[in-house]
Amino acid sequence: MSEKTFPVSAEFAAQANINKAQFEEMYARSIDDPEGFWDEQANKYVSWFKPWKKTMDWSFDQEDLHINWFTEAKLNVSYNCIDRHLEKRADQVAIIWEGDSPEDTRKITYRELHEEVSKFANVLKARGVEKGDRVSLYLPMIPEAAIAMLACTRIGAIHSIVFGGFSPEALASRINDSDCRVVITADQSMRGGRRVPLKSNADIALEHCPNVHSCIVVKRGGDPIEWTEDRDVWYHEAVDAASADCEPEQMDSEDPLFILYTSGSTGTPKGVQHTTGGYLVQAAMTHEAVFDYKEGDVYWCTADVGWVTGHTYIVYGPLANGATTVMFEGIPTYPDISRFWEVVDKHNVSIFYTAPTAIRSLMGAGNEPVEKTSRKSLRVLGTVGEPINPEAWEWYYNIVGNGKCPIVDTWWQTETGGHMMTPLPGVNDLKPGSAMQPFFGVNPVLLDDEGNEIEGSPAAGNLAIDRPWPAMIRTVFGDHKRFYETYFSMFKGYYFTGDGARRDEDGHYWITGRVDDVLNVSGHRLGTAEIEAALGLHEKVAEAAVVGYPHDLTGQGIYAYVTLMDGEVGTDELKTELVKLVRAEIGPIAKINLIQWSPGLPKTRSGKIMRRILRKIATNEIDSLGDTSTLADPSVVDDLIEHRENS
Ligand code: WTA
Repeated sequence: MSEKTFPVSAEFAAQANINKAQFEEMYARSIDDPEGFWDEQANKYVSWFKPWKKTMDWSFDQEDLHINWFTEAKLNVSYNCIDRHLEKRADQVAIIWEGDSPEDTRKITYRELHEEVSKFANVLKARGVEKGDRVSLYLPMIPEAAIAMLACTRIGAIHSIVFGGFSPEALASRINDSDCRVVITADQSMRGGRRVPLKSNADIALEHCPNVHSCIVVKRGGDPIEWTEDRDVWYHEAVDAASADCEPEQMDSEDPLFILYTSGSTGTPKGVQHTTGGYLVQAAMTHEAVFDYKEGDVYWCTADVGWVTGHTYIVYGPLANGATTVMFEGIPTYPDISRFWEVVDKHNVSIFYTAPTAIRSLMGAGNEPVEKTSRKSLRVLGTVGEPINPEAWEWYYNIVGNGKCPIVDTWWQTETGGHMMTPLPGVNDLKPGSAMQPFFGVNPVLLDDEGNEIEGSPAAGNLAIDRPWPAMIRTVFGDHKRFYETYFSMFKGYYFTGDGARRDEDGHYWITGRVDDVLNVSGHRLGTAEIEAALGLHEKVAEAAVVGYPHDLTGQGIYAYVTLMDGEVGTDELKTELVKLVRAEIGPIAKINLIQWSPGLPKTRSGKIMRRILRKIATNEIDSLGDTSTLADPSVVDDLIEHRENS
């Protein structure tokens, strides 16, 4: 926590899209008259083929759980992101693609995007993809990823993007869960000068996906690949032969737009399902309001399209607003540690949005790699994905932004679709590490463990939301019951975020991190259950329990307690094997930092592992273990403390 505040400059406030007085008036209206407020926003940000009958229609009750926005309205997302801009900005660059190597740059105008998306939409149709079908994307950060997303939306297909860093096993389970019949991938992806064999990963995955009949392959790396006749198609060959004429499908506001898998407390990752109208309204509105976006800005979000941030803030929000959006294939440290700032200078980026973990790692290399670049085009900075520590915040503000760019610390989730709490750059005197205040229409509440609202400030509790917002998750794909159980069963009548938060004396919010069994490693969500299941695949492992602990660079590190079949202490070689196993099952983002051999785990008499105790041991908070008397065998705790790994 930091006591310092960084006032919004009079100069910035004067030119901002939204100033303090406007914010207060708009926010009050968004809460008191949500229908009137969102009607206006929906008309301002989105072009509709047919208007809606009812703005919002919802219930968070178990029997009747449903969330509808802009009912019976018709629209098309690719039309909103491309076609409607053609009259005014056909020759404006829509996507600046910056490749892994600084020599690789490509600029795509709105006119070109229209042609490419239409052609690829026709390719999908020719492969039998129809409205409502799911299509899986397993792609690098190349323009074809955005083109494929938009092509799906053009014909009403539902994309499910699987991050290119996920393993074949993770890809296969996502393809099968959503019953995708068509997969789009690339031969290789290029990151930091290294190649990742995406197509051969996809080949392995597809051995377990009998329903997939088409695998469309973008040529990126150019290395030889295996080829399955009848199933595999080169992207460029198919697109070359396709017509550039494709009418956008008229979609219902509540038709599904995409599915994105994310980790939760229990079980396998779930397919978060978003729909069309409400999502697009909030994506476009937040992009403009939160980043103070204006015509002429060059906007860069460094996320990957495999995560929700890439969906909403590389593709849909910026393109709906007719912006120029930068898409970066590489990593911040290649060819050297100045890369981010060199790209900023090269393309005159004015709005820059990244993750705290990237800032922390760049901060470690000192100021020189930043200061040798100009960055004079920068106007607004943003962060997302995890809490940012004040030290990293101040470095970002003073060194990267030269003390003149407001930072928007945006709190949101895969499930929320768009920003939920964030400062606005022309409104707030900033507090490093605070997400400050809710966005329009969002009414956050802090609940105690019994579900009572905690009134007043300061206060701390479980963060929940008491009403729907337009870009909200609509269901878990194929499992509406799980949707209820995951988000609405904990506190009746509320959407529960899984996060804890604090409200300070001024009523500003600070996200304190997950209060459930979800880890956040370098801004990536991982479920402890998934990692435990992967560890359990090893023949020598009897049981495993995974917890997070604070980590300077990645925010959280992964600490695994492993019980072997013979109850013995394992070798260092076995540790290496287990680390590799989890990496192979889930992907490189699931990197276990520490393994402790644990002859026994602390369990209740009914056999439930008490993670609270394991967390305390991992973080070396031995003094505050709490009550251990309810354990079946309290003595296991002493053994765990004695042999804890140094985190
Ligand atoms: C965390 C990413 C603190 C939080 C958009 C949330 C944050 C989870 C912030 C969602 C922030 C995201 N400050 N914590 N500004 N933004 N988080 O689904 O724990 O990948 O629940 O969505 O990241 O992660 P997800």
